[in-house]
Amino acid sequence: MVVNRLLVAGGRLAMAETSIIVLHPSRWREAKQLRLEALQNNPESFASSYEDALSFSDELWQDRVKTALEREGAMALYAEVAGSLVGMAGAGWSDRRKTRHVAEVYAVYVKPNHRGKGIGAALVQGLLDELKALPQIEKVKLSVTGSNQAAVALYRRLGFEIVGNAKRALKIDERYYDLHHMELWLR
Ligand SMILES: CC(C)(COP(=O)(O)OP(=O)(O)OC[C@H]1O[C@@H](n2cnc3c(N)ncnc32)[C@H](O)[C@@H]1OP(=O)(O)O)[C@@H](O)C(=O)NCCC(=O)NCCS
Repeated sequence: MVVNRLLVAGGRLAMAETSIIVLHPSRWREAKQLRLEALQNNPESFASSYEDALSFSDELWQDRVKTALEREGAMALYAEVAGSLVGMAGAGWSDRRKTRHVAEVYAVYVKPNHRGKGIGAALVQGLLDELKALPQIEKVKLSVTGSNQAAVALYRRLGFEIVGNAKRALKIDERYYDLHHMELWLR
């Protein structure tokens, strides 16, 4: 399994004082905290909502971390500084015959005081490197709020290009947000 390759390698990709790690399931509370912070701080960046996530059971949060570690079809990487989680990024893919060549990146988040240091790029590049090792995956897609200049620039820098726009795809309170669909061909 993909993620085990990372674990075998110590679960870390090298970066100055930041480690990109695969999270041990015992640390699910930290993952929950980080995800809730992301949804609360940047609601316009995610289709999931803070309000819905607050009602998830502890079992579901535990399962999310375990799934990303153990199940084929999902993967999550976390950024750790001095023992604390400061960022995360996830990817998923299916084994459906017609779409198994496409993976999706989602849930990309870096804590505000750790932004601009290359952590977001390292997280997403880490996912891309792992996805490249899966022979069936040819393309990676993602959706990003059009007004989210930092994220659009991050994905462009890693080679993604905008392939479409969805008008008023998110509605938060009475405000609408357009989404860009972005894609990167791996091979
Ligand atoms: C988007 C986000 C993940 C970027 O994380 P980060 O760690 O600050 O990004 P990095 O430092 O790795 O930057 C990588 C590249 O992204 C672009 N970028 C990042 N922040 C930027 C900003 N504020 N303005 C313009 N470009 C920016 C740059 O191209 C940068 O490369 P460079 O430093 O060589 O110019 C972070 O801002 C975040 O968590 N935002 C809130 C949640 C979110 O929007 N997630 C994305 C959902 S699709």
